[in-house]
Amino acid sequence: MNGDMSLFSPAGPAGRTLTQLGWWLLSVSVLVVLVVAGLVAWAIVRRRDGLHAADEIGSPAPRELRWIQLGGVAIPAVILVVTLAFTLGAVHVTGAPARRAAFTVEVTGHRWWWELRYVQADGTRRVVTANELHVPVGEPIRLELTSGDVIHSYWVPALNGKMDLNPGTTNVTWIMADRAGTYRGQCTEYCGRQHANMATFVVAEPAERFAEWLASQEAPAAEPASADAREGRAVFMRAGCAGCHTVRGTPAVGRVGPDLTHVASRRTIAAGLLPNTPGYLAGWVSNAPALKPGTPMPASMLRPRELHALVAYLGTLK
Ligand code: CUA
Repeated sequence: MNGDMSLFSPAGPAGRTLTQLGWWLLSVSVLVVLVVAGLVAWAIVRRRDGLHAADEIGSPAPRELRWIQLGGVAIPAVILVVTLAFTLGAVHVTGAPARRAAFTVEVTGHRWWWELRYVQADGTRRVVTANELHVPVGEPIRLELTSGDVIHSYWVPALNGKMDLNPGTTNVTWIMADRAGTYRGQCTEYCGRQHANMATFVVAEPAERFAEWLASQEAPAAEPASADAREGRAVFMRAGCAGCHTVRGTPAVGRVGPDLTHVASRRTIAAGLLPNTPGYLAGWVSNAPALKPGTPMPASMLRPRELHALVAYLGTLK
């Protein structure tokens, strides 16, 4: 039950509240089913013992009436009122953090990946990344969610409930992890062929580690040191990559696909579909639609030499 996407291994206050609510609903449902099934079995056995009783049809005796009032009215009322109170409490906890969020991240859903834009205290957005949301441990983070195309839904079960991303509007939610770790999330609103391959990760790190990560992400792309990587950058600019992707500090300013300024720092490519290794990256660049049918990323017609150089360049974008 403690898998990556399990509702039963929460890692933050909102996730924990939903886990408690989940356990309550599960236990009370199981209990009700067991009690009702037990009573039905008991009634069947009783009827067999005393068939004559079934002939007496009339208004219930006072003793029977008490059972109806208790089992049919009082107990269900108590269960429903407790469930309502629990649910309202959970809505309160999951809706807004108990204290001010440390910062905001704008999350935009795309077919089929997540664009993440960190809003700094002064309102600027210097860090733009994809699919992998880094956060400091123990800090509530505000998420503003919208979509660039169809309806998606953001769900990291360990950290909070689901929140839809609708084109043209912004929904707000929040997450907080109270221990370091990587928490997997998933799009949970069917959004087309690759809906299942629209994963996301929240990487919760101690404050210093997070600050280092943020500083490295703010920096523009490093100047490639090797001849291979320099050639790869030239391939990137002339082969069409730059038309869809941004690499800050270079002429590449495309906004269609993920920002690649620090793509090598991410653990996966294609929204959790593939590990971010040179081999998978080369395969992805060569023929993305073969790996993720329907992706807007086209197959490239690069020669082996060019592909090798391009992958070397992407590997320098730490
Ligand atoms: Cu995005 Cu399903």
